[in-house]
Amino acid sequence: MQQPAEQTRPITLLGIESSCDDTAAAIVRANGSRGEILSNVVSGQTDLHAAFGGVVPEIAARAHAEKIDLMVEAALAEAGVSLGDLDGIAVTAGPGLIGGVLSGVMCAKGLAMGSGLPLIGVNHLAGHALTPRLTDGLAFPYLMLLVSGGHCQFLVVESADRFHRLGSTIDDAPGEAFDKTAKLLALPQPGGPNVEREAESGNPKAFALPRPLLDRPGCDMSFSGLKTALLRARDGLIERDGGLRRGDRADLCASFQAAVADVLTAKGRRAIAAYLEREPAEPVLAVAGGVAANATIRHQLQTLCAETGLRFTAPPLALCTDNAAMIAWAGIEIARLGHVDGMDLAARPRWPLDTRQTGILGSGKKGAKA
Ligand code: KG4
Ligand code: ZN
Repeated sequence: MQQPAEQTRPITLLGIESSCDDTAAAIVRANGSRGEILSNVVSGQTDLHAAFGGVVPEIAARAHAEKIDLMVEAALAEAGVSLGDLDGIAVTAGPGLIGGVLSGVMCAKGLAMGSGLPLIGVNHLAGHALTPRLTDGLAFPYLMLLVSGGHCQFLVVESADRFHRLGSTIDDAPGEAFDKTAKLLALPQPGGPNVEREAESGNPKAFALPRPLLDRPGCDMSFSGLKTALLRARDGLIERDGGLRRGDRADLCASFQAAVADVLTAKGRRAIAAYLEREPAEPVLAVAGGVAANATIRHQLQTLCAETGLRFTAPPLALCTDNAAMIAWAGIEIARLGHVDGMDLAARPRWPLDTRQTGILGSGKKGAKA
C-alpha cells in the first residue's frame, strides 16, 4: 500500500522533556512509519530529592534550568547532527510540575526562534502513549495502560491526537503507592523495585488488603486506601508483637503488591472488554511507565491478555520511563497531522489527553494529575 507523501519524507526532530524529575533531550528520525533514535540522554534528579521523600518542585525547576541546554547539546553531539539538520523542535508542554515544564518550553522557544525551526508542543502522556508505535510499530487503535509514579490510566489510542480514556486513578498512582509503602516499611526509594524484591520471600495472602473500587462499574481505580490499610496492618503487628518480625515486612510487601496487581488486572479485564467492542483488527495491550517493570503485575496482565486474545507488549524500560525520545516521536506524529505551535505555546500544569472528558481531580507527588 502506498503511504501518504508526508509519511514517506524523512523527518528529524529534537525532543525536550522536563515535566517531572528527569531533564532529557533526544534526536529521533522517522523514515516512513519507522522511527530511529539517534540519541536519547537523560539527567535524573533522584539524589537531589532523596532527603525529602518526594520531588520538591522548586528544586526540580532549578535543576532543569541548569541542565536543559547541556542535555540538548549532548543529544545533538551524540546524534552527530546540528540544528540545521533538524526539521523541528518538540517539547513537553504539560502536564507536570509547572517550573520544569516552563524550563523546557522556554528552551525550545529560544531554539526555535534562533533557528527558524517549527515548534511542536507535546502532551507528556501522549509521549508515553505513542511510544509503542516507535518501538513496535503498533497500528491504531490499541489499548494502553500507563502506570507510573504520577499516572495510572487505561486509554484507547485512536490516533496521534485522539485518545479515549476508559478509566484512571482517582487518587494516588500505583508507583506513588509503592513509594509510600516503602517509606512506611523503612525500605529505600524508589519504592517499587525495593518492595518487589522484599515481596519475593513474602506470602501474598498473609494480609487481606482491600481491592478498592472493584465493586463499582467502570475502569476507575483508587490506591490511596491501600496504603492506609497497609499502615494499619503494620501498626497492628507492632502493637501485638512490639515490632515487625522477620518475614512480616516481606509478607506486607507481597500482600500489597498482590492487591495492586489484582486491581490492575480486574480493571484491565473491563478495559479490554470496552476496547474489543471497537473490533480492532489486531488487538493489543501496551503498558508503559515505571510500574510496568514489576514482574508480578506484568505476569498477571500477560495472562489476562492470553485469556482475552490480545497481544501484550511493553517498550524497553528506558523508553517506558520518562525520556525525550518519546516526546520527539510524538512530535513527529503530531507534525505529520499538520499541527505546529507558535511562540504563544503555553506551559500547562494540567492537560487531559482526552479533552472530551472531565479532568481527574487531585495532585500527586509528581505534580498535578492530568
Ligand atoms: O515512569 P516513572 O519512571 O516515572 C514517573 O512516575 O513518571 O515511574 C517511576 C515509578 C516509581 O514510583 C517507582 O517506584 C515505580 O515507578 N517502579 C516500580 C518498579 N520499578 C519502578 N513499581 C513497582 N515495581 C517495580 N519493579
Ligand atoms: Zn511520565
